[in-house]
Amino acid sequence: MKISASFLSSSNIPMDLKRLNQTDVDFIHVDIMDGKFVPNKTMPFSEMKNIYKYTDKRLDVHLMVDNPEKYIPLYAELNTEYITFHVEVMDKVEENLELIKSYGIKCGLSIKPGTPVKSLVPYLPLLDLILVMSVEPGRGGQSFIDGTEKKIREVRELISVYHSKALINVDGGIDDITKNSCQECDILTSGSYIIQSDNFQERIDSLR
Ligand code: DX5
Ligand code: ZN
Repeated sequence: MKISASFLSSSNIPMDLKRLNQTDVDFIHVDIMDGKFVPNKTMPFSEMKNIYKYTDKRLDVHLMVDNPEKYIPLYAELNTEYITFHVEVMDKVEENLELIKSYGIKCGLSIKPGTPVKSLVPYLPLLDLILVMSVEPGRGGQSFIDGTEKKIREVRELISVYHSKALINVDGGIDDITKNSCQECDILTSGSYIIQSDNFQERIDSLR
């Protein structure tokens, strides 16, 4: 199982990114919020940009924003493996997936807990990643939503029926207990369980 670490609930991002650099975590999960798609807002790119210098890990960028096209060119400049935005934005979904690909970066779509998996169908041939939200997007430290296991199974089924190459990433409330509901995933994104610990590597090992 691959692990992506979210630093959304970090109180000292440079320090925590340096600590994550000492672990074998696969990706750094970057949560971007615009105050529109979700109520909270993250720091502007101009401020965040310097912070990514503290990590050598590949970035897994999660755009919780209304206008992904504003952010894609910025994050495409960094050491980025995936850029994912939400299928619920509805507008220009295909264009934005193509925009991500035009930078040679893998593209993903995320679905909120209440969004049916069939909304992904039109985009499946383009997708490298499906990010299943196991909490309502917008903040760290929430509890894993119970119906997620069923949702993951539905996504896995969709991938198989449509012969999609997409990997499944699950995000929100992941710890050593809830990971048991995510065995059909390829990547687990975990924030507070890793960051609010004295031993990052031990927590990462417990998720694999
Ligand atoms: C929620 C974010 C998640 C979150 C994960 O909106 O997309 O990436 O930071 O953090 P935990 O693991 O604390 O739920
Ligand atoms: Zn996220």
